[in-house]
Amino acid sequence: MVDATSPIGVIDSGVGGLTTVAQLSKLLPGENIIYCGDNGNAPYGNRTGEDIARLTTRMLEFLAEREVKMVAVACNTISATFDTPGLAGYENRFGFPVLSIIRAAAEDVVKLQYTRVGVIATAFTIASQCYPRLIDELEGDMQVYGEPSEKLAALIEQGDLASPAIDQEVQTHLDNLMGAHPDVKDIVLGCTHYPIVEDVFQRKAPHVAFINPAKAQARAIRLHLSDAGLLHHGDHDTVGSLHINTSGERPVYETVLSELNITRDYTLDTVDFGTGTVPSNS
Ligand code: DGL
Repeated sequence: MVDATSPIGVIDSGVGGLTTVAQLSKLLPGENIIYCGDNGNAPYGNRTGEDIARLTTRMLEFLAEREVKMVAVACNTISATFDTPGLAGYENRFGFPVLSIIRAAAEDVVKLQYTRVGVIATAFTIASQCYPRLIDELEGDMQVYGEPSEKLAALIEQGDLASPAIDQEVQTHLDNLMGAHPDVKDIVLGCTHYPIVEDVFQRKAPHVAFINPAKAQARAIRLHLSDAGLLHHGDHDTVGSLHINTSGERPVYETVLSELNITRDYTLDTVDFGTGTVPSNS
C-alpha cells in the first residue's frame, strides 16, 4: 500500500533523467526518489519502439517491486512510445501513474502561447511526431519544427561534457534548425540529456530561449501528487533519499550530479535491466 512517504520512481535510458531529479530536488526536496538509468542499453533514441517498450517494461517491473507511488518517465524517447498502438499501455499494466515528460512539456509550451517552436530530440522522438501531435491536440495553431540528433545523447553519456564532439554536434543541429527556420526564438531541448549541456546551446545561440522540459515535469509531478493526497510533507529541512540503479557505471553519474548541482546524498547500485534486441548504432 503506497502512502505519501513512498518513493517516486524516475526512469531514463541513462543519466538524462537526472535533469528531472534536479528539478524535483528544488521543488519537492523531501520526496524520496528511486532512479533507474539503463545506461548499459543507451542510447534508446536509435532503437525500435518495440525494443524501447520492452526495456522500459524491465525498469517499471523493477520499480513495481519497490512500491513507488508514481513513475516519472524522464525520457522523451520512452514517452514517445506511450501512444503507439499495441506498444505501451504502461499505466494499465502496473497500476501506478506513469507520467510522460513530453505531455508535460507540450502543456507548458502551449500555456506560454508560442506561435512557433523548435524541438531538438532523438531520431525516435522526432520520427514519432509526438511533440507536434500533442501540441496540436492542445492548441491547434502552433508551428513545431523538429530536428533529430542521432549522436548527442550518446556523447553526453560518455561523460566528457566539455568535449569538442558535443560542441560540434550542438552547432550542427542549431545550424540545421535555425538555417531552415531563422525566426524560431524558442527551442525545446526534447531529450533529457540535452539540458545537461544547456550552457553549450546557450553560448552558441544567446538570443534563443531554450526550454528544459524537466521543469514542467517537476511541476506536473507536484500537481499530480497534490491531487492524489500523496505529497510528502516532511519538515522543510528534511532532504529525501536518492537511490540510483544503473546498468552502466558510476563515474558519469558523479559528473552529471555535480554538473546539475544535485547535492543530496545518494546510493548507487548496478542492476541488469536486460539487453535490447536491436543494437543501438551510435
Ligand atoms: N534521455 C532520453 C530522451 O529524453 C533519450 C536519450 C537516448 O537514450 O537516446 O529522449
